[in-house]
Amino acid sequence: MNINKNYAKLKENYLFSEISQRVKTYSEKYPDREILKMGIGDVTLPLAPTVIEAMRSAVEEMGDADTFRGYGPEQGYPFLRESICEYYRSFGVSLDADEIFVSDGAKSDLGNILDLFDQNNTVLIPDPVYPVYADTNIMAGRKIIYLSANESNGFLPMPEEKMRADIIYICSPNNPTGAAYSTEQLKEWVHYAQKQGAVILYDAAYESFVGEQGIARSIYQIEEAKECAIEFCSFSKTAGFTGTRCGYTVVPFALKRCGVSLRSMWLRRQTTKFNGVSFIVQRGAAAAFSEKGRKQISENLSVYRDNAQIICNALRKLGIWYTGGENSPYVWLKCPMFSDSFMFFDYLLEKSGIVGTPGSGFGKNGEGFFRLTAFADKNTVQRAMEKFTKIFV
Ligand code: MLT
Repeated sequence: MNINKNYAKLKENYLFSEISQRVKTYSEKYPDREILKMGIGDVTLPLAPTVIEAMRSAVEEMGDADTFRGYGPEQGYPFLRESICEYYRSFGVSLDADEIFVSDGAKSDLGNILDLFDQNNTVLIPDPVYPVYADTNIMAGRKIIYLSANESNGFLPMPEEKMRADIIYICSPNNPTGAAYSTEQLKEWVHYAQKQGAVILYDAAYESFVGEQGIARSIYQIEEAKECAIEFCSFSKTAGFTGTRCGYTVVPFALKRCGVSLRSMWLRRQTTKFNGVSFIVQRGAAAAFSEKGRKQISENLSVYRDNAQIICNALRKLGIWYTGGENSPYVWLKCPMFSDSFMFFDYLLEKSGIVGTPGSGFGKNGEGFFRLTAFADKNTVQRAMEKFTKIFV
């Protein structure tokens, strides 16, 4: 037998496992020191009361022979897929419920979708970006070309005519930089993909943070995108489901390559390899889209938005360059004093107990940068930025 040798091409640890390891070593060395966690983008506020109520009554249904449910539809219950369609309608996008596939989260789907594509496809990945895109393609042995996101293009690279790619990743609002494409900019990407016959894998996990007019919530705000894009989204950052697990992927009927419907292929893949998300979780997710649920969720999102402002204000006062924090829970800053972002990570942790994420963990172009997340409680963010200010003033 033989193993998949592509794994040898990966870094030893997944980025956030590496961070946890370093924090563990630090807390073993200094068990009495406070740790201010602003590293992994993990929510801290509890689930909305409406979500909890819906999940409780779903548990009751599961405990009653008359309402008990076994295997659900692999694609997700129609009640949830209809709620997702209604949500999209609220920002002007019309989808068919059969184009939506409910899953346990965007991360799994972003990896699993690669089952649909030939190994010889060339993949275009912005740098820096969420490391899952590159890692999953390295595992599959695909050729990757990186597209430079940097200060001069506002971390929003645009297509270049001479570039040739079959699969294009876009993450907007971007993880890690917080930069977000306008619908006008996305139109250029869609036209480029159409011309190349490429497929865009659009990660919209942070769309609920978009507050600015003209910034895209979904790639389907550009009508032709249904012919060239798959969109991934999640309840994790929108409704605090990082531990509850629920996401969805949109594969439009109009998306065909080599004469084959990618939606049919994805349906075939999911029905074979996936048995759906728990009924209880799906009831909770649907409740997040009810009127009451949306109100409660937007209160939580405001807390994170305010945290982002606390971070931005401190950096502005210190004269440290940053981007993000406006349409995103992430603030992306230039490391003060250090050009090596892992060295900056270690220094900041040692000096203040603040945990962030080193920019180079998201790609070569992230070197010299650092990500702070607003997913934390206000007290943590305030204390962290006070400590940060004391060091770099
Ligand atoms: C991050 O911190 O980049 C995210 O939380 C990772 C994820 O969503 O998987």
